[in-house]
Amino acid sequence: MAMAAKPPLGWNSWNTFSHEINETLIKETADAMVASGLKDAGYEYIVIDDCWSLRQRDENGRLVADPEKFPSGMKALTDYVHSKGLKFGMYSCVGTRTCADFPGSFDHEFIDAETFAEWGIDYLKYDYCFKPRSAHGPTLYRRMAMALRNCGRDILLSACNWGNDNTTEWIRSTGAHMYRSTGDIIDSWQSIKEIAQSQMAMQKFAGPYCYNDMDMLVVGMYGKSHNSWIASKGGCTTEEYKTHFSLWAMMNSPLMIGCDIRDMSEETKAILMNEDILAINQDPEGRTPYFCKEWDHEPDTVVHMFKPLENGDYALGFFNFYDDVCGGHVEFADMGLPTRGYGLQLYDLWEKKDLGIHTCKFSVTLPAHHCLMLRAKIVKL
Ligand code: GLA
Repeated sequence: MAMAAKPPLGWNSWNTFSHEINETLIKETADAMVASGLKDAGYEYIVIDDCWSLRQRDENGRLVADPEKFPSGMKALTDYVHSKGLKFGMYSCVGTRTCADFPGSFDHEFIDAETFAEWGIDYLKYDYCFKPRSAHGPTLYRRMAMALRNCGRDILLSACNWGNDNTTEWIRSTGAHMYRSTGDIIDSWQSIKEIAQSQMAMQKFAGPYCYNDMDMLVVGMYGKSHNSWIASKGGCTTEEYKTHFSLWAMMNSPLMIGCDIRDMSEETKAILMNEDILAINQDPEGRTPYFCKEWDHEPDTVVHMFKPLENGDYALGFFNFYDDVCGGHVEFADMGLPTRGYGLQLYDLWEKKDLGIHTCKFSVTLPAHHCLMLRAKIVKL
């Protein structure tokens, strides 16, 4: 079955829990995915990141789930997640060890794919630490993709080599369904901004069946994490999380939630379950956005993005990266709209408000780090 026709949606343990994972957490997270409405909103994968196994393989060369963290075993946990109507994901690594120094899949790709298939997993995040220097990175992704594609289950491959080694030139051909096109995110505005800006030139490489992964969301973390590095900047404001979510949605990134979904504020729920923003991310055509000239004088401060949608509408995103209020206007002609006879019927996707029909241009003023997300219908005047 073809996977990742649309950017995958789910939750991953790393941002908040790092090594502090266990079966109770995963079960409660699966429960919360359903009870909170996230599942109905479209989120489907529950993914355990690094630190789930024992430090050594067993005598048959198989990976072993840590029995203290997962006393019922992985098959039982997968069954539980599946019983909730969700899919289950796990993590391994191209190298001899994972990034947190657990066994990696190097030279064990087929046996590990077999193990994952036996456990019933649906998704594999595949990292890039401890790659033997002589080994060829693309071949290692190809090998795991080949193993997964022949293991008897549909397992989505989420490659994670941070955009290193000219990933864009070879990743689609490996069979991966998404690939990390950036380094690791942390829970800070600076990190969100750097990742978003680095991805604008990368849009030409994104598309259905192999999306650019801008890394897991930090929406709703508010500085809470067992990983001191991820929490080190103290988190973001709700407005910054909205901007973050909007940017990831506009640029077709997979949306993998990174906060503790058992304990979300109303603001966090409203962001993660904004169905209009999710619809932009999940638009069936998966078109990449295009960018129009920036406002004002400062380079890289405010960015306009336009994304064609399947039904003829356009998503319009205005992002203020500047540390102060910033304003300006967009000329619809820059988007491609004729200067006469046509206008845009605008709808504000965060405020859920119709803004009426506009012709020629639209003026916006945004406070620092805010965004405006609109859906535009082309109307004949
Ligand atoms: C790398 C990845 C992260 C996370 C950690 C786990 O840094 O990029 O997303 O998986 O490894 O150790």
